[in-house]
Order: sequence, then C-alpha cells, then structure tokens
Amino acid sequence: MKMRPDTALFRPLLALCAIALLTLTGCDQHRGASQQEEASSTPGHQDWETIVEVLLHPRCLNCHQLEMPLINEGSPHVPRVERGPDNMGAGTMRCNNCHSNKNNPVTGAPGAPGWVMAPIELNWSQKSSAQICKLLTTPQDNGGRAPTSQLEFVSTSPLVLWGWHPGNSRQPVNIPHDKFIEAMKGWIAAGTPCPPERASN
Ligand code: HEC
Ligand code: HEC
Repeated sequence: MKMRPDTALFRPLLALCAIALLTLTGCDQHRGASQQEEASSTPGHQDWETIVEVLLHPRCLNCHQLEMPLINEGSPHVPRVERGPDNMGAGTMRCNNCHSNKNNPVTGAPGAPGWVMAPIELNWSQKSSAQICKLLTTPQDNGGRAPTSQLEFVSTSPLVLWGWHPGNSRQPVNIPHDKFIEAMKGWIAAGTPCPPERASN
C-alpha cells in the first residue's frame, strides 16, 4: 500500500520514457533511410554502380590482373602465362602465339586485335569499387587517361567490345554495351563521383 503513490507517479514517467525512446529510435531510422536515399540519388552514383559491375565482370577482369591473365570465371590460365616486360607474355609464351585478332572456335582461344594483358597500372583485381573509381579518375596513376577518353576507349576498343562477343561457351558481359556507355556518359556528366572509401573494402 505504501508503494502505491510512487508507482502511480512512476507509470506516466515510464510511458513518457517509452515514447521518448520510440521517437528517438524512430528519428534514427528515418535519418538512416534518408541518408541511403541521398547516396543512391546522388547524380552519377547509380551510373558508377553500373560501370563497376562491368569492369568487375570476368570478361574484363581476366585481363586486368597483376601478373597473369585468368580464364573463364577467374581460374588460372592454362598453360601458365605471365605478363612479361611488354604485357605480351614472358619468354616464348607470347600472347599472339595462341591468340589472334578473332575468336578461334577450334583451339578455343579467344581473340581480338591487340590481345595483350592490360597494363599493370590498370590492374583492378583485388580493388574495391571506391579504389577503382579513384584509379580511373586519377590520370597520373592510370597511365594518362581521363574519364572522357576512357569513354571513347570503351566505346571503340576491340578488346572491350570482345566482352560482348566472347566466343565458345563464355558468358558475355551481363549489362548491354549501350547501357554501359550510357552509364559512362551519366557518370561523367555528374562530375565522376566516387563512392566513399570504407575500412571494410
Ligand atoms: C585481352 C585483354 C583485355 C580484355 C579482355 C579487356 N581489357 Fe581493358 N584494357 C586492356 C589493355 C591492353 C588496355 C590498355 C590499352 C591502351 O591503353 O591502349 C585496356 C584498357 C582499358 C581501359 C582504359 C583505362 C584507362 O584509364 O586508360 C578501360 C576503361 C578498360 N580497359 C575496360 C575494359 C572493359 C570494360 C572490359 C570488358 C568489357 C575490358 N577492358 C576487357 C586489355 C583488356
Ligand atoms: C599456349 C597458348 C596460349 C598463350 C601463349 C596465351 N594464351 Fe590465353 N588462352 C589460350 C586458350 C586456349 C584459352 C582458352 C581457354 C579456355 O577457355 O578454357 C585462353 C584464354 C585466355 C583468356 C580468357 C578469356 C576469358 O574471359 O575466359 C585470357 C584473358 C587470355 N587467354 C589472355 C592471354 C594473355 C594476355 C596472354 C599473353 C600474356 C595469353 N593469354 C597467352 C591460349 C594461350
């Protein structure tokens, strides 16, 4: 009986606390959601997401490696071949011993004019989306191209176009080439925004 007045006082207080808590967490959730909306509606952000999905597709990534090209969905190239000093293969294992300017359905070797490994500064394997974006937007690190000339390159380079006609049973790049070009244009028009660096990637 003695506790009653106290409890009576306490209840509305508890209720107030609960409301305050709900409002706070509610606000927090709201803030989280609007931050996300902000990120995905930033002009050029979705375009970059499309671009990086293409760049990281095995048809592209297999040549944009550190020391050795990969095949199929990212397996080692058999026989073993290395970049070599001129990106065209080490020793007698020269790329053009086996790769010509078109796919060879008999040997299974893919081909396009100028079939060599991507230069070492364009190795984007093991890199995060943010790091690849930074690389492409920093000409002094990527070998000299600014995004506008990258746009021209990916519109016309036979090595890039090969990704949509890879021959044999290889899967072509899953995003249509014209969507990729549209995304490049949108990203450039938006000032080539990059996603933020995160400790986890
Ligand atoms: C056979 C190997 C090979 C394949 C496959 C390949 N690339 Fe490349 N890539 C290269 C080489 C070599 C260069 C450099 C060419 C040059 O500078 O003239 C390059 C350059 C680039 C560049 C220019 C970057 C810069 O800053 O200069 C982009 C962008 C690019 N490739 C995207 C792609 C995309 C997208 C695909 C897949 C659709 C692809 N590549 C597939 C070898 C390849
Ligand atoms: C001894 C012959 C030979 C040499 C030398 C050679 N390749 Fe290949 N390469 C092949 C064959 C055959 C395939 C197809 C393998 C398969 O699909 O199972 C292949 C596949 C590839 C692929 C896979 C494409 C994909 O997306 O699946 C890439 C990339 C590649 N080679 C790059 C190179 C580069 C770059 C060099 C030179 C540094 C080179 N190759 C040297 C025979 C060779």
